[in-house]
Amino acid sequence: MARISWKFGLLMMMIVLVGSCSGQLSNENFYSKKCPNVFKAIRSVLRSAVAKEPRMAASLLRLHFHDCFVNGCDGSVLLDDTSSFKGEKTAGPNNNSLRGYDVVDAIKAKVESVCPGVVSCADILAITARDSVVLLGGPNWNVKLGRRDSKTASLAAANSGVLPPPTATLSQLISKFQAVGLSTKDMAALSGAHTIGKARCTVYRTRIYNDTNIDRTFANARKKNCPIITGTPKDNNVAPFDFKTPNHFDNSYYKNLLNKKGLLHSDQELFNGGSTDSLVRTYTNNQKAFFADFATAMIKMGNIKPLTGSQGIIRRNCRRAN
Ligand code: HEM
Ligand SMILES: *[C@@H]1O[C@H](CO)[C@@H](O)[C@H](O)[C@H]1NC(C)=O
Ligand SMILES: *[C@@H]1O[C@H](CO)[C@@H](O)[C@H](O)[C@H]1NC(C)=O
Repeated sequence: MARISWKFGLLMMMIVLVGSCSGQLSNENFYSKKCPNVFKAIRSVLRSAVAKEPRMAASLLRLHFHDCFVNGCDGSVLLDDTSSFKGEKTAGPNNNSLRGYDVVDAIKAKVESVCPGVVSCADILAITARDSVVLLGGPNWNVKLGRRDSKTASLAAANSGVLPPPTATLSQLISKFQAVGLSTKDMAALSGAHTIGKARCTVYRTRIYNDTNIDRTFANARKKNCPIITGTPKDNNVAPFDFKTPNHFDNSYYKNLLNKKGLLHSDQELFNGGSTDSLVRTYTNNQKAFFADFATAMIKMGNIKPLTGSQGIIRRNCRRAN
């Protein structure tokens, strides 16, 4: 009996060790001892930022996506350039496009004031993304935690094509998500994030002037704020993805696709006679199904190559590697 329990103890120890080496994230209790008020701290700053500007919820959700797709969810997207590396902020998909860095700074400062040096910037992005969705009426989920922060960021990686461009075809969208372990269904559900937030003229101009799978009234309305001529300040004019309920996380993104009112070329690719048409129909008719699949896919996306255990660091300031 004593021999059995000794062996059993060793086995359990090995399982724990193997678990911690393989980069597993933990559940929401990860900070319950070292920072029990982390959720409260994050939510208080987030609430006032989103009250001031509802779009900020969208911008913060997108930061987590762009963090995770480039070398995993390691907070790298938040690092400023240094003398030894150029970071991701000026990469093609991010420059003049990603926003919310200042709100992340304010959240991090608040978290540091209650528990210094404990909560990673990568985890702050994951929690903030979840809370942003919830604040705008979307689904809730148990966010996985225990990510640690990178010491470096890569401009080249952010420019390497891992992030899908707004010109992408359906097969390109599928393969770019597959490359980070996400299925076609995950891709179709995560795209529903475009039920909130805005895009710049420069990313949808070709669609409204050249695409044929677009509602004419919708295209004409968008042209008013987005002239055909490029290279003027109007390139930065923005339009909401979802013109009806831009600050409400619902399934209207898919309803718009059904009516050929997707804002980006890549959006409309999800409903253009291909393999994802049926999913778009499902999500249009069944918001619960969309919410469930979105939550599942967010957890999977948040699990892309995290640094865990003794890997990486906990940054004090999300902009630099301590
Ligand atoms: C499926 C492939 C995707 C493509 C091609 C794509 C592309 C884009 C583009 C071009 C913009 C506008 C950028 C600008 O105007 O500067 C944008 C905005 C946005 N994206 Fe995506 N995206 C994709 C997937 C996702 C995913 C997976 C999420 C999150 C789960 C997401 C969340 C957002 C949000 C919330 C905004 C609005 C941000 C704001 O208003 O500040 N996108 N996306
Ligand atoms: C990023 O945007 C700024 C401001 O518009 C511009 O001056 C700069 O050249 C851009 N950087 C890159 C790498 O495109
Ligand atoms: C529309 O397509 C033509 C031909 O490919 C291209 O030359 C033009 O720049 C496109 N227009 C816009 C607004 O993207």
